[in-house]
Amino acid sequence: MPLQKPLKIAVVGATGAVGSVALKLLEARKHPADRVVALASARSDGKKLPYLNREITVHESRPDMFEGVDVAFVSVSATVSKLLQPEITKRGALMIDDGSAFRMRADVPLVVPEINGADIEWHRGIISIPNCTTTPLAMVLDALRRVSPVKRVTVATYQAVSGTGAAAQAELIEQSKDVLGGRPARPAVYPHQIAFNVLPQVDDFEADGYTKEEHKMVNETRKILHEPDLPLSATCVRVPVQISHSEAVQVEFERAVSPDEAREALAGYVGISVVDDPARRVYPMPHQAAGRDDVFVGRIRKDLSHPNGLALWFSCDNLRKGAALNALQILDEAVRRGSLKPTGQ
Ligand SMILES: NC(=O)c1ccc[n+]([C@@H]2O[C@H](COP(=O)([O-])OP(=O)(O)OC[C@H]3O[C@@H](n4cnc5c(N)ncnc54)[C@H](OP(=O)(O)O)[C@@H]3O)[C@@H](O)[C@H]2O)c1
Repeated sequence: MPLQKPLKIAVVGATGAVGSVALKLLEARKHPADRVVALASARSDGKKLPYLNREITVHESRPDMFEGVDVAFVSVSATVSKLLQPEITKRGALMIDDGSAFRMRADVPLVVPEINGADIEWHRGIISIPNCTTTPLAMVLDALRRVSPVKRVTVATYQAVSGTGAAAQAELIEQSKDVLGGRPARPAVYPHQIAFNVLPQVDDFEADGYTKEEHKMVNETRKILHEPDLPLSATCVRVPVQISHSEAVQVEFERAVSPDEAREALAGYVGISVVDDPARRVYPMPHQAAGRDDVFVGRIRKDLSHPNGLALWFSCDNLRKGAALNALQILDEAVRRGSLKPTGQ
């Protein structure tokens, strides 16, 4: 029998914050360069990117670039995703989309493989990955609900600038240099200075006073956990950190749950590491989570405001488990389940 060729994988947005990490992850798996199609906007057409001791060329995301592609990892804006989707689907490739374009559509699975990998089986050509703040929160809640059903969640996020993309990462560096050099910061990506500041706004505001990001956290968490009525309230905050989002979470359970029970459940969950020894000043920090795959959880303690409540803190690399790694794991899971093609094809 002839050996099966490795999948042909298109990385759309290959020059961006998420796409470049997707390429790094493919490189770490030694996925052959001739089975990788690096795509971006017309601006990047012809640009060379290092890959497995050689270079691969970035092409403009023209429709014909998806010919023969098995899987497209798409990390571009929602508008561009929507434009490219019919071209990708028409050519029979599975689209794994990092953006918000399709996440809440009833016919699109929104997947974190550790939680709802089985949802992959009913895809119709598109699988979405959640927002980078949602994925680690949903994993932590999934681990904890095995101890006792979750009744209510409140969360405040501390989100790194890479969550906005490569331009925001550059803006933080430039502003930091300007401020340290005694020059005024010049905000462009964000509405205010981000260097030496925090912004209690991630994405645009809605009429109810919450931001779109906060609504995404609520709606996406409910969809992934299959708990459509889970009470959850979020405050999303941008902080001057390059990589890794952190979150301070209060969880109310059906019954009292001890910190030790929670630690045991979290430590036993694939993709979560407990880092919790406050007496020795050991707790998760974004600096240490960056470049790593797990959700790091600590500061696990009783919530003083509720007998059935716990409070905790976690950090997670938003570009890895929050985006590119989750997308690759979805592909692995689709292959494992024989679900690369939509059901019925
Ligand atoms: N950053 C995160 O932590 C994170 C996490 C989860 C999901 N996401 C989602 O992932 C997506 C990408 O985010 P990012 O942070 O990687 O953004 P980014 O750093 O700004 O990168 C955007 C990418 O899109 C490409 N692009 C722009 N216009 C295009 C077009 N017309 N056709 C094809 N490609 C085009 C850019 O190519 P050029 O370089 O040629 O302009 C670049 O490669 C967004 O939907 C975001 O919401 C991000």
